[in-house]
Amino acid sequence: MDPIRNPYAPGAGQRPPELAGRDVQLEAFRFVLERVAKGRPERSIVLVGLRGVGKTVLLNAMRSQAVRAGWGTGKLEARPDQAIRRPLGAALHMALRELGHPAPTGVLSTLKAFVERAASPTAKAYDRWNSGISAPTVTGRGDSGDIEIDLVELLGDVAGLGADKGKGVAIFIDEMQDLGADDVSALCAACHELGQQGLPLIIVGAGLPHLPAVLSASKSYSERLFSYSRIDRLDRESADLALAVPAADEAAQFTPDALAEMYRITSGYPYFVQAYGKTVWDVAPRSPITAEDVAVAAPQAEHELAVGFFGSRLERATSAEREYLRAMADADPDDAGAVLSARVAEVLARKPQSLSPARDALIKKGLIYASERGRIAFTVPLFGRFLRGRAEIADSA
Ligand SMILES: Nc1ncnc2c1ncn2[C@@H]1O[C@H](COP(=O)(O)OP(=O)(O)OP(=O)(O)O)[C@@H](O)[C@H]1O
Ligand SMILES: [Mg+2]
Repeated sequence: MDPIRNPYAPGAGQRPPELAGRDVQLEAFRFVLERVAKGRPERSIVLVGLRGVGKTVLLNAMRSQAVRAGWGTGKLEARPDQAIRRPLGAALHMALRELGHPAPTGVLSTLKAFVERAASPTAKAYDRWNSGISAPTVTGRGDSGDIEIDLVELLGDVAGLGADKGKGVAIFIDEMQDLGADDVSALCAACHELGQQGLPLIIVGAGLPHLPAVLSASKSYSERLFSYSRIDRLDRESADLALAVPAADEAAQFTPDALAEMYRITSGYPYFVQAYGKTVWDVAPRSPITAEDVAVAAPQAEHELAVGFFGSRLERATSAEREYLRAMADADPDDAGAVLSARVAEVLARKPQSLSPARDALIKKGLIYASERGRIAFTVPLFGRFLRGRAEIADSA
């Protein structure tokens, strides 16, 4: 069918044509916004899930919701080895703008001091950084150099402004598992402190399934600060809607058999729903799209996923790490895709300790995570199936 009118949107953070199956989370968030703006206590929210399940797009949808409610919002994406001051400063600067012009000079000064502290006074001259925030430099707030103290002061000032306006402030942090340990700890402490002061500030984080473990390792009270929401693959009904609604907007349909086949292939994982949807649309000669069209399109969609979604990740692994991944795939993962590390060592006929470097590097690269009790799992859905498929091709060649 006409590729120009193809509605599907595979891609990291790409807004889907229909955000299916997330009404529960969006409704719960509406509730949180209303309560917090009224000065009621609420926990911050953390979305956790595998790669490609739709954490980023849900985070963005929640941010739009907060903006519509008149809140000040800002977003950052955590990166390993990057300190939080600059990206958080930029996010809060945005939140201040959204709360309305002009932000009081006092708050701006604290913000400026907070971000510029990143490069001074220990930094070399060429490393100094100008935040571009025009406010008089006042020392003594947000610039002690102790991230925890500085965050409490800055977030307190920003949230105080939100409170004055009868609104709140929401900070959205994507890939939250990549925050440095000191920054996580300081964020938790600041959230805790502001909550006690009844200030309207919440954090909405998103990250891989081990994020709750990262947070509770940092502060024992993190379970009371955050409410965790598991973002998972779509159920059958939602996956059907994700495909059928955008098609209907273009006056096209799927046959019931085609929808069943799509669910069988994609398992309802949002990224796969979009990727297969896109290819099937292009391949199908006319509406309605049939199960046969799906069968014809599948190899092409699979190839694109092998290169883009899976391949781009596999490329980040060294050959020793790939061997480890391959052994995980062969080690009979349970339903949640988890295997015992010890079992992986068995498959490779190696001592578990000798495999720790590969395992740790893969965790740091975000390809696997420690799930529970000595188990590890892929962060990428259906990665095991992909790796076994590759091996078969190699074997038959
Ligand atoms: N609820 C949904 N309904 C339909 N499609 C969705 C839904 N959520 C996400 N998608 C699609 O799935 C793909 C992946 O979404 P997104 O990038 O938000 O995932 P993610 O969980 O942030 O992945 P990663 O961990 O790699 O960052 C996108 O193409 C998006 O359009
Ligand atoms: Mg994402």
